[in-house]
Amino acid sequence: MALSQVPVAVPVNGDSSIRRSMFKTNNVTFHDKSWSSASRLDLKTANCSIKKSICSLHVSARVQPLTLEDVKEPPLHLYKNKESYTGTIVSVERLVGPNAPGETCHVVIDHGGNVPYWEGQSYGVIPPGENPKKPGSPNNVRLYSIASTRYGDFFDGKTATFCVRRAVYYDPETGKEDPSRKGVCSNFLCDSKPGDKIQITGPSGKIMLLPEDDPNATHIMIATGTGVAPFRAYLRRMFMESVPTFKFGGLAWLFLGVANKDSLLYDDEFSLYLQNYPENFRYDRALSREQQNKSGRQNGMMPGIQDTLKRVAEQRGENWVEKLSQLKKNKQWHVEVY
Ligand code: FDA
Repeated sequence: MALSQVPVAVPVNGDSSIRRSMFKTNNVTFHDKSWSSASRLDLKTANCSIKKSICSLHVSARVQPLTLEDVKEPPLHLYKNKESYTGTIVSVERLVGPNAPGETCHVVIDHGGNVPYWEGQSYGVIPPGENPKKPGSPNNVRLYSIASTRYGDFFDGKTATFCVRRAVYYDPETGKEDPSRKGVCSNFLCDSKPGDKIQITGPSGKIMLLPEDDPNATHIMIATGTGVAPFRAYLRRMFMESVPTFKFGGLAWLFLGVANKDSLLYDDEFSLYLQNYPENFRYDRALSREQQNKSGRQNGMMPGIQDTLKRVAEQRGENWVEKLSQLKKNKQWHVEVY
């Protein structure tokens, strides 16, 4: 499979010099900071790409049920391929501008609170129809990283959000889309309508869970494309939601590789964090190009990211190989490539 999306998270030990001053507001307690009407205005004027249904949610971040905090281990494989859960599509919205290469959609799914998950986990989706390789059998499950916190985009613990890139194939000679080669599940998700049913499995995955042991830690996050999904979830938990058991006071540093300005995902949300939490959030966007391997297939961003980190380590007089093995040993290096 092409390595196309790369979320890499590197939490670094707590830096006590980076502290946020907190203040209380009367009713809206966005992480003890007022998300005032000015912020809401900014969302509107910022040409909110995920439209009002998502943007208007910034006015409230009281989350429930708080029992979702009580579980000590992440939920895993509550629903399996043979006994999937039937969820309902709440909304599907295009996330990118007209000049973005390809289409990415924000898909909200109602699971009724029956498929709880933690930030950084994935759901499986079994697209309708027959498996073309095994006639008579259902389609294979595809994994999607969850882009919302455990409370979902509506803060009630009943929905999960995906950020889905429509997989299409363009004939290199004609430049035209070949409909016989379009991805089954991503197209099913991006074409679905509110009220449609969806078979989900999971949740799965532990590698990209947000490390919460030290609420003052530094988290360095690097992503391209829909690889941003788990980081959107982390950042909502850090900066948007008022969660009694997790008060983030560290530094979250997000690097996004994008093809062009129209491809930026969730830029409005991230820009708001920057405005409201300049001491706790850094946000760097860079133009990125997918690399190609010898056979001409896309080879993702991972080699470029590794090369850059190596160069930075060398500039600091550090040996990258040693540094990387130390990060891995300390459980400070988490990578998911797909
Ligand atoms: P499908 O599996 O049908 O096809 C795959 C590719 O093959 C497509 O590019 C398609 O164009 C091509 N193809 C289809 N038919 C062909 C033919 N006859 N000949 C040649 N080529 C053909 N994705 C995402 O959008 N958001 C996310 O958050 C995540 N998260 C995630 C997490 C993890 C852990 C994994 C492993 C993967 C993801 N993915 C993802 C990827 C996702 O699981 C899935 O692989 C893609 O959405 C593509 O699935 P489709 O069913 O759409 O394509």
